[in-house]
Amino acid sequence: MPAPSSQPFCASSIIGTGSFMPEKVLTNDDLSKIVDTNDEWITTRTGIKERRIAAADQATSDLAAEAARRAMADAGVKAEEIQLIIVATVTPDMFFPSTACFVQKKIGATNAVCFDISAACSGFLYALQVARHFINTGNRTTALVIGAEKLSSLVNWKDRNTCVLFGDGAGAVVIRRAEEGAEAPGRVLSTVMGSDGNLADLLKVPGGASACPITPENVESRPNTIHMEGRETFKHAVTRMLEASQQALEIAGLKAEDVSLVIPHQANARIIGAIAERLGLPEDRVFMNLDKYGNTSAATIPVALDEANKAGRLKKGDVILLVAFGGGFTWASSVVRW
Ligand code: ACO
Repeated sequence: MPAPSSQPFCASSIIGTGSFMPEKVLTNDDLSKIVDTNDEWITTRTGIKERRIAAADQATSDLAAEAARRAMADAGVKAEEIQLIIVATVTPDMFFPSTACFVQKKIGATNAVCFDISAACSGFLYALQVARHFINTGNRTTALVIGAEKLSSLVNWKDRNTCVLFGDGAGAVVIRRAEEGAEAPGRVLSTVMGSDGNLADLLKVPGGASACPITPENVESRPNTIHMEGRETFKHAVTRMLEASQQALEIAGLKAEDVSLVIPHQANARIIGAIAERLGLPEDRVFMNLDKYGNTSAATIPVALDEANKAGRLKKGDVILLVAFGGGFTWASSVVRW
């Protein structure tokens, strides 16, 4: 069955990128003092060397707001020009108001409509697609799309299976409607999205919400932390990210060899390596920064996009392939002409 997909849109472009990572670095050696692990295991199994940890008084919206300011500065856009803010996150400041509303307040984007999206590590690409729909149907012309997480607040620091994987951070893009017929660098050519709720139990935070509120009786078992079947997640991640990449390229009328740079969700270097190999892409066409940050869920792709942009790795006309996989399960891929 063909994947549910969008036809190429003609008119929305990424016009600025920004990111913000908290200052505190937690290395593999630091972690080995907290749980029974070591740098060698973490590096060979995941590729992660260190991650950033937000301060106690830094909420997800603080990271998101700073990434947003940097993306607006890069785009040359003022806060009052922003008409839509979508924050993709699984670590909102609160159940409500949305993290996007806190970002609005912090950056002074008084003309924006604001809401959050929950699609775990695929959240940024889901949010990008929703924002493009707003723009392409004519409701809004300029939007901030943000992926931001304080995953350190969801980590069980006694569980070595998961605590070594995650970190905090935020990335943002400004997208804007391109004028008819105008050259529009940063244009999203195609997007593919998918979900499989039958596999929801393989990666989840089971407690702390309506299905299992925290009580004095269950608090010790830490249901409000990340629970993951690592091996199963790994297998599905490779399959779905590969399929989504191939489908997004096909919709855009392109082949893997046309891709200048793949910016994949940064969960595990072995997952990324397996996808690159199957797409036939050499290492130098695959962006990786997970050694520095670990898995920051919805933030990985916009942070990596910003780092690649600022490092001059995105040249005008380049084909950029973005691809993500996360809890739900959810997955998505977008092809961008820079
Ligand atoms: N340090 C040392 N040993 C460890 C650690 C650790 N941190 N963690 C687990 N081990 C041990 C296990 O206990 C096990 O020991 P045993 O053989 O004695 O039982 C052994 O290492 C192997 O464990 P596995 O879980 O089989 O290791 P695996 O090679 O599968 O790697 C990992 C685990 C890194 C979690 C991998 O499965 C993975 O990356 N999975 C995918 C994660 C992912 O992609 N998530 C994406 C979405 S995340 C999101 O949506 C928020």
